[in-house]
Amino acid sequence: MKIKSLFKIPATGQEVTVRGWVRTFRANRFIALNDGSTLGNIQCVVDFESMDEELLKKISTGAAIKVTGNYVESQGKGQAAEIQVTELYVYGEADPESYPIQPKKHSLEFLREKAHLRVRTATFSAVMRVRSALAFGVHKFFREEGFQYVNTPIVTGSDAEGAGEMFRVSSLDTKNPPLKEDGSVDFSQDFFGKETHLTVSGQLEAETYAMGLGEVYTFGPTFRAENSNTTRHLAEFWMIEPEMAFFDLDDNMDLAEKFIKSVLTYILKECEEDLIFLDNRLTQEDKTKPQAERSELSLLEKIKFVVENDFKRVSYTEAIEILKNSKPNKKKKFKFHIDEWGADLQSEHERFLVEKHFKCPVILYDYPATIKAFYMRMNEDQKTVRAMDILFPGIGEIVGGSQREERLDILKERIKAMGIDEEELWWYLDLRRFGSAPHSGFGLGFERLVLFATGMSNIRDVIPFPRTPQNAAF
Ligand code: 4AD
Ligand code: MG
Repeated sequence: MKIKSLFKIPATGQEVTVRGWVRTFRANRFIALNDGSTLGNIQCVVDFESMDEELLKKISTGAAIKVTGNYVESQGKGQAAEIQVTELYVYGEADPESYPIQPKKHSLEFLREKAHLRVRTATFSAVMRVRSALAFGVHKFFREEGFQYVNTPIVTGSDAEGAGEMFRVSSLDTKNPPLKEDGSVDFSQDFFGKETHLTVSGQLEAETYAMGLGEVYTFGPTFRAENSNTTRHLAEFWMIEPEMAFFDLDDNMDLAEKFIKSVLTYILKECEEDLIFLDNRLTQEDKTKPQAERSELSLLEKIKFVVENDFKRVSYTEAIEILKNSKPNKKKKFKFHIDEWGADLQSEHERFLVEKHFKCPVILYDYPATIKAFYMRMNEDQKTVRAMDILFPGIGEIVGGSQREERLDILKERIKAMGIDEEELWWYLDLRRFGSAPHSGFGLGFERLVLFATGMSNIRDVIPFPRTPQNAAF
């Protein structure tokens, strides 16, 4: 049986078998066993007088075992029920001298170096169960909204998105690549007959599918070779990108807000126990911080706040006014001073707006065309585009999206102005040649959502094996 199922049934002395990994073994008598199905451990009580002494010696933290016994109401405090062990089998021992995950508090930094074993801790198992439930919540939401799930390519031959630096995919001999006459590498002899990269986004391909299936979404890995060593950036992260025909920017914002609220509501119900545990963890961690850095709300309160309140919608122009007149700007506390319209917003500005000024999730829209991608729809003012970013407390940008430019002539102008090769985007432009229609979409960084939902503070701790600059261990 799974321990999760066991906890749901009354303990009437019936015989049960469970399998898992030993969390602790105390007094040669009490095994706390966990199988990953749930946060809690089942207490297994062995009668050391009748048990084989050699067998008991093999039991220590980390060992994989099978336990059969009678499931009874517990005599001791701390648990409602326990298993009185009649049979014990050890699949694999874990030498206490070398097994790194001991029953004590390990730092998150230490556990990052043991990423292959860290899921055997309460914190990481809770985080990963929440992550898994969120992923399911994503599919559930879109399915119920009538969206089709599409898989866009991971290896891409177009690098026109401009979302960030790309990783090259190549099978050429690095020591001895074929060269062109001018001495540069001849990628026409590479595997795909051209230069290829790992995708930074599935958006452009998703747009083609929206123009036939109507409402679609992608949910897959994306890759960015930006050298940003922050607690919010990964070189490999998962992104959810819905794309909707006939949606304008307001429809897009409505959907994004409904979507985030829906998946958070889903985990509040599905992951209650794990979230309460993570809530306590965050409260403990907060106590070690200086007063000013502590959060006003607990994790559960933060999630509920997002679910229950409208996101504040503010235009870029309004945001710049607020920032210009803000205390940190006047006192030159921002690293990047805001003095005029057109400035790109840095995360310090986004966090000021969300955490200090509005104190709630904010949707910023209508950004200057100069700081946004070529495909965003030009407004009548000829200065701003129909872009929107959703900013979250403690996270900063969690969603980036826009209404797409559906007018062929204007799109071509924008492509030219940005110095992109039009030829490369021939198929993308075809969408504007044949049955073009208004459409919109956005991208949500899945790990940023998991960060918010779990209250963890480093994005490296919400993905099983993080890829960051100088690190691709495991
Ligand atoms: O704002 P971005 O770059 O938008 C796009 O890629 C669009 N093509 C999306 C669309 O309209 N379909 O990225 C979208 C989101 C960001 O808001 C952020 O949450 C996340 O992806 N993100 C990252 N997450 C982790 N590590 C990184 N290096 C990230 N870069 C972006
Ligand atoms: Mg963005």
